[in-house]
Amino acid sequence: MAARPVLRAAVRTARNQPLASTYSSNSRCIATKPRNFCTSTQFLRPGTTSPGSNNGSPRTTHFGFQDGLSESEKTDRVAGVFHSVADSYDRMNDLMSFGWHRIWKDHFVSSLNPGYSSSIPPAPQRVLDVAGGTGDIAFRMLHQSHVVNANPNIHITISDINPSMLAVGKQRSLSLPAAQQATLSFLEADATQLPSTILPNSLDLYTVAFGIRNFANIPAALAEAYRVLKPGGVFACLEFSKVRNPVFDAIYKRWSFSAIPLIGQLVAGDRDSYQYLVESIERFPSQDEFRGLIEDAGFVVGGDGFEDLTNGIAAIHKGMKPLQ
Ligand SMILES: C[S@@+](CC[C@H](N)C(=O)[O-])C[C@H]1O[C@@H](n2cnc3c(N)ncnc32)[C@H](O)[C@@H]1O
Repeated sequence: MAARPVLRAAVRTARNQPLASTYSSNSRCIATKPRNFCTSTQFLRPGTTSPGSNNGSPRTTHFGFQDGLSESEKTDRVAGVFHSVADSYDRMNDLMSFGWHRIWKDHFVSSLNPGYSSSIPPAPQRVLDVAGGTGDIAFRMLHQSHVVNANPNIHITISDINPSMLAVGKQRSLSLPAAQQATLSFLEADATQLPSTILPNSLDLYTVAFGIRNFANIPAALAEAYRVLKPGGVFACLEFSKVRNPVFDAIYKRWSFSAIPLIGQLVAGDRDSYQYLVESIERFPSQDEFRGLIEDAGFVVGGDGFEDLTNGIAAIHKGMKPLQ
């Protein structure tokens, strides 16, 4: 892929920094407990225990504020949530965020600038939008490549574990220009175990937006991202994060925990799913913790490794698979 700002920054950092990260002082089951006392697989760091195993002992994770679920139980319950919200998902996003999710998604995609290439003709680019749901990120990337960068030589796959979300995405994609539809495909897949048809070292860009906090095993998904990206390929994640300002945080938490489940009940007739969504945001690691997980998967990060959006309500994380 052509030298993008994130890639150049990551290369500079790789030259100056060791790959291994230091543990952050506020890590949940990283710095505060001996490593093998961690119970949640979500935050086990690869290298401590392989993402695919836990030394034979049962692996547990959480679903919102409920602890002690097996990974398959969490996966099933998350599937239930997104099956239930699929039809109202896009409308609810606008209502819950006052439309801010659109600004965050626009910024995320323009910062990645898919389709940009310094070579003539442009080198083909392969992109995987994981947990792509109803297509918001993939459709923006198609526009950026085809229209902004005048480069149709891109292929984007929207992958998601949930057929109901993909069905909404497929329906929406029918209103895209035919040339963009021709460079888009859909794949039902679990991000923690991508199908072998996605070959190692085959992708230029891996994106995941508002999806990773729902995964039953985040390190396993990061390991998969690392496996399928080419050397020099970019991992990019947009996810809810930790608000920095305590006063703003208090207002934001009050809004999320009282209004969002209520809006879910009134608009979508589903309070429980939206209660899970706000709890899952609260349980997701801090910016520093998540950067550590990305580094532990083998990626190099530039600068802080993340960019806060709207005071940390959301954050963009990027990492690059090292150039051999
Ligand atoms: C909040 S939606 C985000 C959709 C889209 N990326 C966006 O930004 O609008 C989260 C998505 O993650 C998907 N998801 C949850 N667990 C998954 C997994 N293990 N593998 C792949 N997708 C998953 C859900 O089905 C859902 O479509």
